Amino acid sequence: MTLDVQTIRKDFPVLSREVHPDTRLVYLDSAASSQTPLPVLEAMDHYYRWSRSNVHRGVYRLAEEATDLYEGGRTKLAAFVDADPRGVVFTKNATEAINLVAYSWVRRHHKPGDVLLSTLMEHHANHVPFLYAAKDLGLEVRHVPLTEDGRLDLDAARDLVADGRVKFLAMVHVSNVLGTRNDVAAMTALVRDANPEAVVLVDGTQAVPQMPVSFRDLDVDFYAVTGHKMCGPTGIGALVAKPERLEEMDPFLTGGEMIRDVSIESVTWNDVPAKFEAGTPMIAEAAGLAAAVDYLTGIGMQAVREHETALTQTFIDRLSQVEGVTVHGPRDAELRGGAISFAIDGVHPHDVGAMLDSKGVCVRVGHHCAKPLMKHLGVVATARASLYLYNDVDDLDPLVEGIVAARSFFRR
Ligand SMILES: Cc1ncc(COP(=O)(O)O)c(C=O)c1O
Repeated sequence: MTLDVQTIRKDFPVLSREVHPDTRLVYLDSAASSQTPLPVLEAMDHYYRWSRSNVHRGVYRLAEEATDLYEGGRTKLAAFVDADPRGVVFTKNATEAINLVAYSWVRRHHKPGDVLLSTLMEHHANHVPFLYAAKDLGLEVRHVPLTEDGRLDLDAARDLVADGRVKFLAMVHVSNVLGTRNDVAAMTALVRDANPEAVVLVDGTQAVPQMPVSFRDLDVDFYAVTGHKMCGPTGIGALVAKPERLEEMDPFLTGGEMIRDVSIESVTWNDVPAKFEAGTPMIAEAAGLAAAVDYLTGIGMQAVREHETALTQTFIDRLSQVEGVTVHGPRDAELRGGAISFAIDGVHPHDVGAMLDSKGVCVRVGHHCAKPLMKHLGVVATARASLYLYNDVDDLDPLVEGIVAARSFFRR
C-alpha cells in the first residue's frame, strides 16, 4: 500500500505556505502536533455556523444535532481504536486522561507500600501524575530501564515484578523521543503473571496517529489518546477504558451533566462515561475529531504505518551516512514510530533547530517533556524530526542538508 502524498498534502492548507521568502514549509513536528486537514476544519466550522447549541439537555433540533455530533465523535473514536463507546471518556487531552486515572484509580485504590511500575522513557504526562500520587500516598515507584538501543529491558522488568507487589503499570506505547514501539503485550504479561490483579495504563498518544490500534486486543485497562496529534483539533483527548473499570471508579471532576440525581444533601453519579464528563464538553472538537477519524480511516491506518515505516528507515539510513550524527532509539524502523531524535557531535540541538528553521524546516528541540529520559541518555536536549502521512522524501532533502550545514557551521 502506498500513500498518494501529493494528493494528501492538498488537504492540509498550511503545507502550501511559505515560511521565509521562497522557502516552502517542511513540517516535521507532527509528534508535537499534527496539521489539520480540510474535513476537520469544515466539521468544526459547520457546527459553529449551523448547529451550535449545548448537548444532552435540549429537545429542539439544534441541540439534538449538537448531541449527535458529540456522541458521534465518541462512537467513531471507539470504533477507530476498537473499544466499547461506554469506555470512551472525552478529556481535554491525554494529560487529563492520565490524571483522571491517577486521581480516580491510583489515589483511591492504592495504599502505602503498593508498588507502581513505569519506564524510563515516559513523557512527563505519564510520569508526574504518578510521582505526585506516590509521594502523597507513600507508594513505591519502580522504573524499567532501557537497552542500549532504546528498548525496554524486559529481563530487568521481570526482576522488578518478581515479588508480585506491582499493582499498577503505566507505560508508553510509542515513545515521543526514542520512537520505540513497545511490546505492550509482553510487558502486560510480565506484570500480570506476577500479579493477576495488576491494572495497566498505556499512553497511546503517539501510537494512535501512526498505526492501527485495537484496545480490545491490547487487553489493558486504560489507554490515553489525544486529538491534536491525529489530525484532530486541540482541546480534545480521551481516556479509553474497560467500562467495568470506570464503573469501579469515583469521578475526578464533579458538577453538571455527570449526575443521576441531586438533592440539597446528596448526589448520585450518572452512568459511565458521562460520570466523568462534568460541565459543557468540547462539542466542536468532538465533531472535528470524528472528521479526523473518518479522514484517517479513509486513508487506512495500515497504509499510514507502512508509509511512515519506509520514510523513517530512509531518514535513519541517510542520517547514518552523516559523520558525527547519532540517532537515538532503534535503527530498525519496524521497531519504532516516526519520531526520530538525533544528536550532532559538538553542536547544541537549539543551533540545529535554528539552522533548520532558516531552511523552512520545522523540527522540535528540547527535552520533549521527558527529562528522566534525557538524564538517562546523558543529554540536556535532542533535536527531533517527526514524520507523518503528509511527508515524503522531498522533505528529507532539506532536512538532511540542514543537518549537514549545522554540523559544518556550528561544530566547535
Ligand atoms: C508520549 C506522549 N504522552 C503524552 C503526551 C501529552 O499529550 P497532551 O499534551 O495532548 O496531553 C505527549 C505529547 O507530546 C506525548 O508525546
